[in-house]
This record gives sequence, C-alpha cells and structure tokens, in this order.
Amino acid sequence: MKYTDIDKIKNSPIGFFDSGVGGLSVYSKFKKILPNENTIYYGDLKNMPYGNKSKEELLGCSRRILNFFKGKEVKAVVIACNTSSAIAYETIKNEYDFKIYPITQTCAKTISGMNIKNIGVFATLATINSHAYKKVLQKYNAETEVSEIPCQNWTSYIENGMINTTECYEDVKDKMKKMLENNPDKIILGCTHYPYLLDILSQFAPKDMFIDPAEMFVEYIKKDLTQLDLLNLSGKEETEEFYVSANPNEFVRNAKMFYEVKTLPAIV
Ligand code: DGL
Repeated sequence: MKYTDIDKIKNSPIGFFDSGVGGLSVYSKFKKILPNENTIYYGDLKNMPYGNKSKEELLGCSRRILNFFKGKEVKAVVIACNTSSAIAYETIKNEYDFKIYPITQTCAKTISGMNIKNIGVFATLATINSHAYKKVLQKYNAETEVSEIPCQNWTSYIENGMINTTECYEDVKDKMKKMLENNPDKIILGCTHYPYLLDILSQFAPKDMFIDPAEMFVEYIKKDLTQLDLLNLSGKEETEEFYVSANPNEFVRNAKMFYEVKTLPAIV
C-alpha cells in the first residue's frame, strides 16, 4: 500500500450506530478521548427498540447500517449497541473489510478482569436471552455469580421522552428491587441507553455500584487504533455527521443529556 493510501485510511471517518440516542453515551466519551477523529453517527429510530427484535431482524438492521458506512468509506465501525453486539456481531464480523468493535464482548472481557464476585446485568430482552455478558464473564472467571434482568421498556422511555414519568420511575424501582435481592457487588448497565436513567437508578443504590461500560470501551478502541497505526494525525479540524432512519427532531431533543447535536440529522 502506498503511503498516500495509508494516510487516506487514517483520515477516514469512524462509524457509530445504535437504535437511537443510547449509543451517544459511548460517542460522547469517544469525542472527549479521541477528539481528532472524523465521525459519523447513525441512529436507527425507525426500528427501535432493538431489544424486542428477532435475530433475523437485527441482522437486517446491522447489515443495512454497515452497508451505509461502507459507502462512506469508514476505517472502522463501533457497535455502540449491546443488542446488536450480542446478537449480530458474530455473524457479520467478517463480512466487511473494516474493523468492527462490539461493545458487549469487549467490555465483558474487561469487567471479568476486575474480580467482582457477584455481578448484576440490566439489558434488553434480546441481550439477556443471549446471555452474552454472563457467558464472557464466566468464561474468564468461572466463580463469578451473574444475575440478569431484562428491562423491556427502558429504551422506549428514553426515546419517547418519558424519563420523568411515574411509569418510568416505578419500573426502574421495581427492577432495582428485584436486582438488589441478588446482592450484587456491581451492576452492569448492559444497554447503552441505560446511563440516561442513572439519576433514577442511583436513588436505590450508590452511583458507584453501576458500571457504564462506555469509557472502558473507548479506551480499548483507542489502544487498538493506536496499535494498528490508524489514528488520525492529520491535524485538520475533525468532521462529524449524524443520520437517522426516522424522527430527527426527537433524536436531537433526547440526545441532549449526553451530546449536543448541532444540526438536524438527515434521514437515510
Ligand atoms: N442501546 C441498545 C443496546 O445497547 C439498544 C436498545 C434497544 O433499542 O432496545 O442494547
């Protein structure tokens, strides 16, 4: 490969995707830790919530978005969505010639090294049914006890601007009650939407009991891109683009807690 080609690859954008604003909990950390990278974020609002979809449907969503990123000539894609990572990643990981980073597998491995005895996992129904966190946590540390609780409605509360409703509060309270019966030392927020609920969750347990995998995920990506010599070192001001499959106004409004999206995303 010619030097100019390598240079072009380094300057290429990195794609991020999720069913909606959840992936911004990862994206916002990424922009702080790797501010020089060009980025594209895709929110699949038309198909949210992903957590109640079948494997076939989730594969379809992932492939459509990855093909979109292929057209954008990205150098890597970050699956900022646990459901897609848990259900679709293994099947699609070799279908593209750019690097794909799945949040669940990456972070479960890192968390397994923290020697936590009793871990709780809150995630979508699809992620919980796949036992993606549990499998990896116990693969690297067979002694770890893992209790998993699906939270089927939490993504919709966030995407529909319902965080401050009694319905949302009561649901979070109920799931926390069930979770605390298992005496977890730590609770993984195994869906990238759930950090949006941290203020409510922390009314029932100390904030430091919750693990938001976003930061460790971004640190891993940074290390890997550095090792692959793929970091953008051009010194030019970075670019960012946002796309959604529906509801751009809702996306911008709900994004605010984690990221200020300055221009209305295009619908693709
Ligand atoms: N935020 C995603 C996840 O991490 C998807 C949630 C959903 O759409 O149900 O699983």
